[in-house]
Amino acid sequence: MNQTEEIKAKLDIVDIISEYIQLKQAGTNFKGLCPFHNEKTPSFMVSREKQIWHCFGCGEGGDAFSFVQKIDSLDFPEALKLLAQKAGVTLKKQDPKIASQKSKLLEITRLSAEYFHKALLDSKEGQIARDYIDKRKLSPSTVDDFKLGYAPDSWDRLLNFLIKKGHTTSDILLAGLIVKNEKGKTYDRFRQRLMFPIFDQNGTIVGFTARVLDDAKANQGGKYINTPQSLIYNKSLVIFGLDKAKKQIKENDLTVIVEGNMDVIASHQAGINNVIASSGTALTLEQLKFLDRYSPNLAIAFDADLAGQAAAERGIETALSIGMNVKIIQMPEEINGQTIKDPDDLLNQGVEHWQKAIDSAISFLDYHFNKQFKTFDKNDPLQKKEIAAKLLKQIAKLNDSVEQEHWLKLLAQKLDVSESVLRENIDQYLERKNTQNNDIKFEDTKLKNREHLLAEQLLALIFKFPENLEYLINHLDLEAINEPSLYNIYKQLILYYNKVNNFDYSEFEKILNNLDSNLVNNSSALLLLADKDFSDFKQADVKKEIINILKQIKKNYISKKIKQVEGLLKQAENNNDKVQIDELTKDFSILTQELNQL
Ligand code: CTP
Ligand code: MN
Repeated sequence: MNQTEEIKAKLDIVDIISEYIQLKQAGTNFKGLCPFHNEKTPSFMVSREKQIWHCFGCGEGGDAFSFVQKIDSLDFPEALKLLAQKAGVTLKKQDPKIASQKSKLLEITRLSAEYFHKALLDSKEGQIARDYIDKRKLSPSTVDDFKLGYAPDSWDRLLNFLIKKGHTTSDILLAGLIVKNEKGKTYDRFRQRLMFPIFDQNGTIVGFTARVLDDAKANQGGKYINTPQSLIYNKSLVIFGLDKAKKQIKENDLTVIVEGNMDVIASHQAGINNVIASSGTALTLEQLKFLDRYSPNLAIAFDADLAGQAAAERGIETALSIGMNVKIIQMPEEINGQTIKDPDDLLNQGVEHWQKAIDSAISFLDYHFNKQFKTFDKNDPLQKKEIAAKLLKQIAKLNDSVEQEHWLKLLAQKLDVSESVLRENIDQYLERKNTQNNDIKFEDTKLKNREHLLAEQLLALIFKFPENLEYLINHLDLEAINEPSLYNIYKQLILYYNKVNNFDYSEFEKILNNLDSNLVNNSSALLLLADKDFSDFKQADVKKEIINILKQIKKNYISKKIKQVEGLLKQAENNNDKVQIDELTKDFSILTQELNQL
């Protein structure tokens, strides 16, 4: 038994998860509200027997380790430490020779950060970077806290340093610190730049963002260049500054979001610590959900340029869609004759200006109301229409209907039109929002489509009430199931049943296990689903439900086939292929008949 297994054996997943959420018994399993997505009816299941959890709402699942990793945002070694403690297991020291790929890349990144940092502090040529640091008024303790560094003007110095430390070119490449050109030659990615390490939320360095020292040279590779996506650096998860901001975010119950990394650093240096950067792109759903755990309140400052605003808008939309509260920080256009582009500029005029801007942030909709009523004349009918359109679009983004109502009333008042007219008009935006939301969720949690859900329910029902298996096999073609893992499970189910004419879950599981252990996971999840949805079903309900689901699956399946035939028919008509046309027309009428008989 390895240590992970030993820990698992000593712990009960139900106890572990109960420390975080309320679980209630459901059949032989336990259910509760999923901590990883918003829901009002429980779809989060835990199996004591199998020591696994699975959420049927968002599709997440796994064992005790993956649960604490996810809920506490830990990496595996951290989760191991945490659970070892709970289990009373003392961990053995890891042999560095068998260190995982991931820990090798982390070590390379850590060593590189040290190297850059030292070059900034001590090296002769680092003077140019030290001058820059002075120009940006960064203090020694800021340079230290953020472990800023300098990448020397060389093609291979970092590479040679890392190789001397015992690392391979291929690992260094994977960590993103060197680049390989078409001829296969490798060279240092970062040259003559100010280096900002990117820390994950636990303070581990996972990558770098690097700024040119001479703005005139920004056209050579860009003002900033960044570590590419890697095994240790996931761009859509890591948030610049979060490791240093999270404590203050919880205390103030507010996250301040700025665009630039420099804005974060300057803010922290001035003692305002609940600040993180969107790093010039739209914050992703994952990032926002992560922030939501620390506080549901966001105050966003965007730079004056349009690109920044568009990215911020997208981030705001996502944040609102998960019910976060969004405020907008408005910055003065100039102070003491100095143009203000971003929080860093504002801080240069004194921290009190930035603090005041944060404190007087206004709600996202107040901001849009002000903006539109300033831009357009509400007494001109056409412009009035414009104001309504622009603001309805924003109101539609809110995820709470009480809030929506509030703003609709206000808009009706201010425009002197009836609320019902506005209500009619908002529908078009609401629909668009719904489809957009689905896209986002789909990306995020691989939310299943309806077809997938139906097939899943059907198989779950059969697992729980296997006396209906024969009926199912007689009434559902294998091809009607689209999703690969369910398709495979159903296929094995048919083969198994035809062989033994009986059903025993543990026997069936053995067969799956011999084929592919992933299938076992999927099939255990189906058992959990059965307990979640069908625990209180009676025999008669079961048959009815099976017939009902079968009908819907078939409907989808036949409709799809009809579409295919229609496509082929069009082709055949274009080619004037009489035989084909005849055959396809026959197919078409058979399929439509089948569909109508359902
Ligand atoms: N950014 C980037 N690549 C670029 C330009 C910008 O990745 N070519 C990201 C960086 O994370 C940067 C953020 O977008 O921090 C905001 O860009 P900008 O406002 O130009 O940078 P600042 O952080 O304000 O830097 P500075 O004050 O030094 O100009
Ligand atoms: Mn700036």
